[in-house]
Amino acid sequence: MSLEIPQFARTGIDIAARRIVHPYLTRGEAQTDREVAHTRALDLMEAMQKNPDVMRLLKEMFVFEDPILQTEFAGLSLPNPLSIEAGFDKTIRVHRLLGEALGFGVVKVGTVTKIPYEGNPQPRIFDLPLSDGLINRMGFPGDGTNEAESRLREDNSRKRKNALIISVAASRISFDRGHQVTDFIDAALQMRKYGDGIEGNVSSPNTRGVTGLQQTEVFQDLSAGVREVLTPNGTKVKLIIYKYSPDLDQDTREKVATIAIDNGADALTYGNITTDPQIRAGLANDTHREEMGGISGRPLKERALEISHNMYSYLGEGTPISFAGGIANAEDVWNALTYGGARIVGVYSAFVRPNTFTPNFAFYVLRDLAKAMRMARMSSMQDFKDLRGKKVPYPLKG
Ligand SMILES: Cc1cc2nc3c(=O)[nH]c(=O)nc-3n(C[C@H](O)[C@H](O)[C@H](O)COP(=O)(O)O)c2cc1C
Repeated sequence: MSLEIPQFARTGIDIAARRIVHPYLTRGEAQTDREVAHTRALDLMEAMQKNPDVMRLLKEMFVFEDPILQTEFAGLSLPNPLSIEAGFDKTIRVHRLLGEALGFGVVKVGTVTKIPYEGNPQPRIFDLPLSDGLINRMGFPGDGTNEAESRLREDNSRKRKNALIISVAASRISFDRGHQVTDFIDAALQMRKYGDGIEGNVSSPNTRGVTGLQQTEVFQDLSAGVREVLTPNGTKVKLIIYKYSPDLDQDTREKVATIAIDNGADALTYGNITTDPQIRAGLANDTHREEMGGISGRPLKERALEISHNMYSYLGEGTPISFAGGIANAEDVWNALTYGGARIVGVYSAFVRPNTFTPNFAFYVLRDLAKAMRMARMSSMQDFKDLRGKKVPYPLKG
């Protein structure tokens, strides 16, 4: 049960988060290098996660529980449909805090790669305050699947209500050696003991070659290999998900979706960051707008929604969609669950950007979503079934 915290006190927490904590995290060199702020935030979160009393308190303050939000995703039971997307907790340090104490129904960790790699030179994450987004060119920094494994061993799935999905890929080093497909499959193999599902990331534009994994022949080999290692002795051990780029054309998107499904995919994620020149040209006059990398947040929102809608029209009810791109509030989630046809909806950028930064993030989104559902006379997440693919006005508008 959550503590009954009056709204003025929650607003106080938001103000403290935005006027004290965020400036503290982004001081000094973090002004030009947002990754420094991110690392500081992870250090703080990890320290809190280690303290059971703090975890209990955070949980009571920030977890929004309501049976109306309970849902099912590709056979997993979830307390709610809100996901924190891959990349936030790349090295699997704070997934317990994100799920148990900050209330995300799905926590996607990684992307982890078999071979450790430092990623692209820093700085490599840039804030776009005027456009309400981010540009990043991380390039899969991480300490590899062995380290990931040592951290995941502590995961106690019996205690978790949220789902844990592990995002895997191949690092730049694997591409340089020409081992990208086998290393990708090895990463899935090594991670298959942990969490509830594996999300194959074939869509990061920041490592040369990665998006090439979405070419149909290559993707066929990759997804057949992943299926094999996740189906030892003929029984699938974990969900198989693939995350695609918003920059694919619809024809390719459909082809690779079909290949994924033929190779046992349980769900598909739309999608990753974009390098689309049109979206870049539409950015406001931000200092960092010319930085190389993929764009996320608000500038991606409409595109991501259209893609999800088109893919829902193609996939129908058979293969559930996990949505990501520009989500910042309950209205965005509503649109993704209705017009976008999605079953779960994820966020990254808005959770870290200064104007929406608060530990109440998931609480607000889920509280408002539950309220909107009741306004629309819905009684469970199942009721979205009839609304998927349709434009349905957000009930709390105005
Ligand atoms: C700094 C940063 C790092 C990211 N790293 C990953 C990653 O490692 N793996 C991945 O699948 N997606 C990664 N993403 C993409 C997000 O998971 C998400 O798909 C994308 O940002 C769109 O959602 P958003 O608009 O809510 O941020 C990253 C995004 C950002 C901003």
